[in-house]
Amino acid sequence: MIANESTNPVGSPAADSGLAIGDRPIPSRYFLAPLAGYTHLAFRRAIRELGGLGLATTDLVHATQLCSGHRHSLELITTHSEDLPLSIQIFGSNAEQLAAAARWLEKHGYAGIDINMGCPMAKVNGQGGGARLLCDADQACRLVEKVVAAVSLPVTVKMRLGWDRDSITSPYLARRFEAAGIQGITVHGRTRQQGFQGGVDLDGITATVDAVERIPVIGNGDVRSVEDAIHMQRTTGCAAVAIGRGAMLDPWIFRKLADHHEGRIPRDPTRDEQIDFLVRHFTLMREQHAERSCILIRKFVAWYGARLGIPEDLENRLRLFSDGAEFESIVSEIRRRHGERQTNLATALIKVPNGPVERW
Ligand SMILES: Cc1cc2nc3c(=O)[nH]c(=O)nc-3n(C[C@H](O)[C@H](O)[C@H](O)COP(=O)(O)O)c2cc1C
Repeated sequence: MIANESTNPVGSPAADSGLAIGDRPIPSRYFLAPLAGYTHLAFRRAIRELGGLGLATTDLVHATQLCSGHRHSLELITTHSEDLPLSIQIFGSNAEQLAAAARWLEKHGYAGIDINMGCPMAKVNGQGGGARLLCDADQACRLVEKVVAAVSLPVTVKMRLGWDRDSITSPYLARRFEAAGIQGITVHGRTRQQGFQGGVDLDGITATVDAVERIPVIGNGDVRSVEDAIHMQRTTGCAAVAIGRGAMLDPWIFRKLADHHEGRIPRDPTRDEQIDFLVRHFTLMREQHAERSCILIRKFVAWYGARLGIPEDLENRLRLFSDGAEFESIVSEIRRRHGERQTNLATALIKVPNGPVERW
């Protein structure tokens, strides 16, 4: 399978995208970007059921903790037969530990590995991991080579454009990573210094696309509509687009993109579909986390409140409920009063981390 077709991917129907990462065929050119704390199994399953999603990637997982069976790491890599295709994202600065984590994942049946080189968190960067690797090409390449040599699975990298605007390293690194055996590169069109500020630099993504010979480059950053995704593909020539916050704000974005490519008018969700999505997400969360879901769903409420037309007093109750029966009673109330709250998706608030470099 050819990894990155030279034909314009923009016109490809979602069901037969022609895209592969290594030997893994990927059914759509629209991917879910990892959002630590949000893109867990229940969210991935709920969003996959809406259609149109290609590859999803787990939240970043600490390589050493994974190998030592740390409970949180094992929870992050929990998956399901319907949660495919999936890549597990690992991070760290020690090549041996990353290679060991990759071997562990292969042994346990996972099909794809992604190395994090974009995380801007001070704690991660201080130990030489995440975006800090963008500053030391030789170390980053050694690390990549070790991981690639450790497994026969396709290995990808997710990175930013560079550390700051005076150090745009992603094109150079992309070329070297490809030579080292990396099978795909996701590039968030901002520097580490930017955190989540400023606009996404599409020229920077283009330069990364142009730097590689055949592997797919996946563009990422600020895509929140069908038009944004198509614009990124057309402008940069990227093989695929990864969508993070835009998928939280509009879980139907992948379905809309599939509609677009199949020649249909992208469907907005009906009132019932919106509420059903909330219920489905919570139900899938409960399968995995039981009553802890009442707390875990809280962080989604700020996003869903606006998107799903939940009246604000009921949004507040969704932050406080403590069992399944109460959830059901709030949902009945939402069904009755849905539509009281009007949201303009184009201007809806996109949440970013409190401090872009302190924490996600
Ligand atoms: C809350 C939050 C958590 C994130 N967690 C991760 C992560 O675990 N791994 C990663 O590579 N990127 C992570 N990112 C970065 C996103 O994957 C993505 O690159 C960035 O948000 C820009 O894309 P977007 O505008 O589509 O969200 C995170 C971003 C946010 C806002």
